[in-house]
Parts: sequence; C-alpha cells; structure tokens
Amino acid sequence: MLKIAIDGPSGAGKSSLARAVAKKMGIVYVDTGAMYRTVGLYVAKKGVDPKDAEAVTALLPEISLEIKFENGEQHIYLCGEDVGDSIRTPEMSMYASAVSAIGAVRAFLLDTQRNLAKSNSVIMDGRDIGTVIFPDADVKIFLTASAEARAERRYKELCQKGIETTLEDVLADMRLRDKNDSEREIAPAVAADDAVIFDNSELSFDESISRCIEIIEDTLSKKGKTKKKKKKRSFYMFMHFLVARMFRFTMRIKAHGLENLPLEGGAVICPNHLSMWDVITVGAVTPRQIHFMAKAELFKIPVLSFFLRAMGAKGVDRKSSGTDAIKYLIGEASKGDLVGIFPQGTRRTGENPADTPLKNGAALVAYRAKVAMVPVCIVTKKMKYRFLRRKDIYIGKPIPYSELGFVNGGSEEYAAATEKVFAEVCRLGGFEKTKAASEE
Ligand code: DC
Repeated sequence: MLKIAIDGPSGAGKSSLARAVAKKMGIVYVDTGAMYRTVGLYVAKKGVDPKDAEAVTALLPEISLEIKFENGEQHIYLCGEDVGDSIRTPEMSMYASAVSAIGAVRAFLLDTQRNLAKSNSVIMDGRDIGTVIFPDADVKIFLTASAEARAERRYKELCQKGIETTLEDVLADMRLRDKNDSEREIAPAVAADDAVIFDNSELSFDESISRCIEIIEDTLSKKGKTKKKKKKRSFYMFMHFLVARMFRFTMRIKAHGLENLPLEGGAVICPNHLSMWDVITVGAVTPRQIHFMAKAELFKIPVLSFFLRAMGAKGVDRKSSGTDAIKYLIGEASKGDLVGIFPQGTRRTGENPADTPLKNGAALVAYRAKVAMVPVCIVTKKMKYRFLRRKDIYIGKPIPYSELGFVNGGSEEYAAATEKVFAEVCRLGGFEKTKAASEE
C-alpha cells in the first residue's frame, strides 16, 4: 500500500494537484483539511469560539464524522449529513485554522486519517501528513508557492464558487493562516526533513501534475521500490515498441480513453474476451505493461506464443484451477503493476458480453492486492473485407478499491464487484442485456 504525503501552506494547490495525481495513479485522494473544516463547521453551528480550546474539546464527543468515497470523491458526513461545500467558505477556513491548533482536535482526527491508508494506496494532503500522520510515508512532498500566487488562485476559486470577497482580503487571510498554521506549537505546517520541497509559483496546473508525478517516481525508484521492475521492463519495452506498432497497424486497433489508464500503481484491467489475440490487442495500445493470464494451450501455438511472451502474459494451466497464476497476479498488482484478467473467464466470440456469465478471479485479485479495477471493452467491427476489419479498445475510468464494496472478501462480494465493473465494460461498448438473469 502506497502512502504519499503532500503538505504545505494554504492555497498552494495541494488539493487540486493531489486529486489529479490520485486519478492518474488510480489511488485514493484524502483531503484532511476538509476534516478540520468540518470540525470548525460544527463549532460554528454551536456558537462556540474556535480558539477556546476547552469549549471546543468539550464538543468533540458529540461529533460523528464519516468519510466516504463516492465516484472517487471524498464526502464527509457530519452527524449523518453531507457537509458539501458549506465547509469551503472563508469563514470556515478561519474556523478550521483555529480548531486545528487544538491538540485534542488533532488527536480526535488522527486515527481516522491513519485508518484510511490501511486498505487503500493514498495520496493525502494536509499540514502534518509527512511529519505526524505518516512519518513513514513512501513519498513526502512539501508544496509551496509565494503568498501572492496562492492568494490569486484561491481568489479565483472563490469567485468561481460565487463566494464574494476581494483579492486583498484573501491575501490578508492567507498570511494570517500561514502564521497560525506554521507557528502553532502542535503539528506546525513545516516540511519533514526528508520531504521534497516543490515550489509551483511559476508552473501551470498541468506542469505541476507532471512535476509531481516525476517526484513520486524518482523517490520511489531511489528507495528501490521500482528499480528492479525497470530492468525487467526494458525487454518488454523493446518488444512492445516493435510488436505494438505492428499490431496496431495490421489489426487496425484504435484506443479510446487511454488517459484513464493509471500511470502508476497497481490495478486489475478487466476486458471482455472475444479472441485469442485479446491479450496482444490490449497490450498493443497500452503504454504500461499489463501482466495477463492466458491459457497454457495458447503458449503451444508457435507464433502466438512468441507474441504472448513478448507482451508479458503468464500461462494458466486449466487443470490446476489457476491458483499459481492468481497468486502471481496478486503479487504483481500489490507491487504496483497492472494485471489483466478477463471477467468472462473464457473466450465468448460472437456473444453479447452483457449476456455472458462472469467469474470472480479479477475481483479476488483486486481485493487481495487492494487495488482498483479498470473496465476495458474490445469491440470488433466486422467489414466486408477482412483487411478492413477494425478493433476499438475503450478504456474506462478506474473504479477505486474503496468503491468496489469489499468488506471481508468472499464470493458474494467478488461477484458484486465483478458485476459492477463488467456493467461498465458493457456500457463502454454499448452492449445491453437481452437475456433475463434466469436464462444465463
Ligand atoms: O487545506 P485546508 O485549507 O482545507 O485546511 C484548513 C485548515 O486546517 C488549515 O488552516 C490548516 C488546518 N489543517 C491542519 O492543521 N492539518 C491538516 N492536516 C490539514 C489542515
């Protein structure tokens, strides 16, 4: 499980950056500032002075906070109600800053924050993530920018939300909050000794995302967490370069939604299964290696076997029920690689994928490796002349681990997660169920 900490002063763009990087990496984004804001909101509702540590501490036992991830977005339920944007006002910023200086409030939120990283790879933004919450984080970034640049960005954001204010007021608030947050005694917003300091005053949003991913990749590779893989990959990259181009051209393969493929981190790729060439077809359009399982028999077909190996596929012996292959895929996905499993289990040439039965392997691997599942739909357009035949590969948005409905694992949970992912596979290709469930 990967833990990435992004700390820094208010308005440096931590949340939008962390959200975008999480999406690209297929991991969960956790906004801890929102938790302090929610405590601030409760304190405001009760008419308590947020600087009165004793009075605020006395309110804490009444507060029930629930963090849920819906469609990849964090939602905070305060005593059962989604706080939404009500915590984003300048007033709530000041309340949050004041209550966050109280030790009891920090202690109150500590476990909630730590627990979120137990079952998910996370990128978490805040002030003390690299220093207090996860001193052992895999990557620590301290994101900063000049007060002027930050105030300008925050001002634009508030205007877009229809919140009335002036640039001068935002800058004054920002300076005051910087002072409160960095000079307070408990968990001040300072960079951890081993954090990478990243000043993005001069960078556009897209440049900040690229730089941030670079920092993450460099740090992980320096820590030896990706080094070995890189060496192994050079042969794959070479073969991919040759084979992928040849296949894309001769089989007229076109990819859609490539931007949805996570750039980093483990995930289970779940395509529908039409042909024995699917492993190669999908591998040919994706820039990251996908470890696929393919039937052992296929490795006996001379030309196909060469290409399957070139694409890094792993043979599954049908008689052994594929346990070794499943273990291998769980291992690869846990290490942060992409693995591919066909939820249909076997080739279903010429059938409507929406009507075919599904197997649980892909969900089992996602559950064990604690990674997202990515729906992929392969659509073959039959043409009069074979050489005009075309394949379209639709890559859907990853469904994060936290949205797959896993609690304790087990076949019912795997079946439900598989259904959810495969419904998306079918939607991508425009396939609709025609059979009633009892006919399957
Ligand atoms: O990131 P933000 O602006 O939403 O945070 C609101 C306030 O909460 C900010 O003034 C500092 C505080 N905070 C904190 O002390 N520790 C965190 N991990 C996150 C936020």
